[in-house]
Amino acid sequence: MRQIGLFDAGTTAGLKRQSSLSDAGDTRTIQAGFRNVVFYPDFNNWWSSASQCLQENVSPSKVWWTENRNAARAPRKSLAMKESAGFIQEATAASCHRSEDRWALLYSILWRLTHDEPQLLELSGDPQVAKLHQYAKAVARDVHKMKAFVRFRKVEGESPGCVPRYISWFEPQHFIVEYAAPFFKRRFSNMHWSILTPVGCAHWEGEGDLWFSDSVDKDVAPDGDQFEDAWRVYYKSIFNPARLKISAMQSEMPKKYWKNLPEAKEITALVASAEVSTQRMIKQRKVADNFHCGARPAHPDQIVHQQIQATDGSSLQALRLQASLCSGCPQSVAATQTVFGEGPDNARLMIIGEQPGDEEDLHGKPFIGPAGKVLDAALKHAGIDRRQCYLTNAVKHFGFEPRGKRRLHKRPDASVVRACAQWLQQELSCVNPEVVVYLGATAASTCFGPQVRVSRDRGKLIYKDARQHLITTHPSSILRLNRGAAQQNAYLQFINDLKLCASAVGLENKARLMVNKH
Ligand code: URA
Repeated sequence: MRQIGLFDAGTTAGLKRQSSLSDAGDTRTIQAGFRNVVFYPDFNNWWSSASQCLQENVSPSKVWWTENRNAARAPRKSLAMKESAGFIQEATAASCHRSEDRWALLYSILWRLTHDEPQLLELSGDPQVAKLHQYAKAVARDVHKMKAFVRFRKVEGESPGCVPRYISWFEPQHFIVEYAAPFFKRRFSNMHWSILTPVGCAHWEGEGDLWFSDSVDKDVAPDGDQFEDAWRVYYKSIFNPARLKISAMQSEMPKKYWKNLPEAKEITALVASAEVSTQRMIKQRKVADNFHCGARPAHPDQIVHQQIQATDGSSLQALRLQASLCSGCPQSVAATQTVFGEGPDNARLMIIGEQPGDEEDLHGKPFIGPAGKVLDAALKHAGIDRRQCYLTNAVKHFGFEPRGKRRLHKRPDASVVRACAQWLQQELSCVNPEVVVYLGATAASTCFGPQVRVSRDRGKLIYKDARQHLITTHPSSILRLNRGAAQQNAYLQFINDLKLCASAVGLENKARLMVNKH
């Protein structure tokens, strides 16, 4: 992991801020009738010079647009244009395009819009309009990729208590840093971050204004952090070989971005093993389908009753057997079987999910499907051994809506959660954990009622009924986010929440990790 240069200390000291001087671009006349406009190359500054040229009736063939990053900058003002509101939006995007002819193109279109062609933008066959659309589209695509592929690395501040800075290296195709930065400000408003690129850098200090500095070299940016492995394990765990479409993947995540994506290091190996993994999944699925479509797993009631008799009536084993006969809610009718909790009866940490999913329903075990894989990876990175935890669900039967051959997850309603509460209460009394983790709102509502809000209440230890409780997000909500910085952030927050629980039960102390309560 490299953390060198300017960002060793987690600060941006030493970066040269771009100036924000006043006075519009210099529109010096160089020959009779010709105008050489020297301006700072962004839309605001071009607009200010272009408006002046329009006022002075300088036709497009008489203007030369000369970019100069040291030119004085015009004060930013809100732009309006009665002739064509759509022009400003599209021209702002197109102005970030790499091609040198963009300023002349924009001025020519502006001239025509204001000289008897107000409907010009509707003529998509017009070569200049077509070029404008093409430039704006290419920039929009580049911004989309930036939103998806910016990966922040955490750099700790030098002195204790100093806020960490999150730094990303990204290589855009066009000059989009200032244009795209407000998105990152909104999305990561609480963090101090910098996005470094070869065409300029954007910075946010958690408050105030975004600021921008000149380009830096890649080696200024850190190329790893303590979460790097976590992110890669996460990516591996959500990779579904059966859904692999290499061409679609490469068009969504072109190879040129791979070198800056921590998870891309896994792609080659995952793709190479996809065929074998898919065959394995198909085989498992066949076994599961036979199991599901034929007779339901035989639970002849008397056998179970006999087994219950043979147990100590208050044990987890007795509860599990009793729950296997439960038909207390509509979900129990359609589901394959009861999926009861799993783990040591003296676990110090209990994790409660919402309800089993498709795979859990078929195999009778909690958290073995895609959400379970995310949970496993996060537990591992939080230093928690899954085998030492008791994992269960608020609802013990899979609730779904059939869609063709597929069974789509359906959130359990409050009456189902209430009907199932007796099992969870008994699991809690049997296991008596020190800390309970609730994954998502359904699980949290079993302890905190329907008014609980995961976004508001998550991530803190709450003392109640003689134990600590922590609400966090459900791993499937992380899976549902579009791949990108938001998903990465959600996953890292999830790990942090689990780490807090680990420290509350002393699980972060490896010596105690394998030791149960009694
Ligand atoms: N989601 C849950 O909430 N529980 C499981 O067991 C699996 C997925």
